[in-house]
Amino acid sequence: MEPPDIDHTYYNGRHYHNRYQVIKEDIPFWIRRVKEFGDPVLELAVGTGRVTIPLAKEGFQVTGIDVSDSMMTEGRRRASEAGAEVEWVKADVRDFQLGRKFNTIIFPLNTVCHFLDLRDLEACLSCVKEHLARNGRFIIDAIVPSAERLARDPDERFFNSEYPDPDGEGVVKVYESNRYDPASQVNHVKFHYQVPGRSEEIVEELNMRMYFPEELDALLKYNGFGIDAKYGDYDDASFGPTSPKQMIVCGPGE
Ligand SMILES: C[S@@+](CC[C@H](N)C(=O)[O-])C[C@H]1O[C@@H](n2cnc3c(N)ncnc32)[C@H](O)[C@@H]1O
Repeated sequence: MEPPDIDHTYYNGRHYHNRYQVIKEDIPFWIRRVKEFGDPVLELAVGTGRVTIPLAKEGFQVTGIDVSDSMMTEGRRRASEAGAEVEWVKADVRDFQLGRKFNTIIFPLNTVCHFLDLRDLEACLSCVKEHLARNGRFIIDAIVPSAERLARDPDERFFNSEYPDPDGEGVVKVYESNRYDPASQVNHVKFHYQVPGRSEEIVEELNMRMYFPEELDALLKYNGFGIDAKYGDYDDASFGPTSPKQMIVCGPGE
């Protein structure tokens, strides 16, 4: 199994952190779920600990796995700064053996969309099953594919975000364009980074497989999971026609 080329997806851990740290609205959702299902917690694709560090600060026992050294280096630095105890494990979420079980396994922020084909998704689900306690829960956060966004003209660029340059040089601006392939259901996103002091833009590609709601439910079911709850946003609203998110809570099936 080829390791994913993460450092050419999110630029690097320091930039990822500065760009994504503003996303905080999902944190209370994860704290509520861990209160409901208990620790120990395993976060798949932990990144820089954006979710795991607040969970550790709530007093939960947490382990995070990720393939990217630059993400986890930044995560370790932040955890130690925050006085949060996190176990960091370098591993591929499609192929890991930790030799123990977890009451809650979480997969935040659309990372499931990194699995571009069913083989990768099913390999991950099989590892999750091995690591899930008998009454444990696996919770996925996946975007609901937006027809409008996927239909964008690939030659058009849209403002995505801006964030402080981690080298202290000013503000980094990010623009995005995307080309959706309806056959593979992969959205090929390009991020164009304008970094102060650099004359050329840095262009990174993020390929995101879109998982449609009925499809994801079926994949979970046929890979041996039972769905207990499905929320449509981070505020625990029921999943429905206008939901932006698929927040799926599942346990080992019958
Ligand atoms: C969108 S970030 C999410 C990070 C973190 N969970 C958060 O919510 O901020 C995606 C993360 O997935 C990791 N990743 C992607 N594919 C992976 C794989 N096959 N195994 C482990 N980590 C992976 C990347 O290194 C990156 O840190």
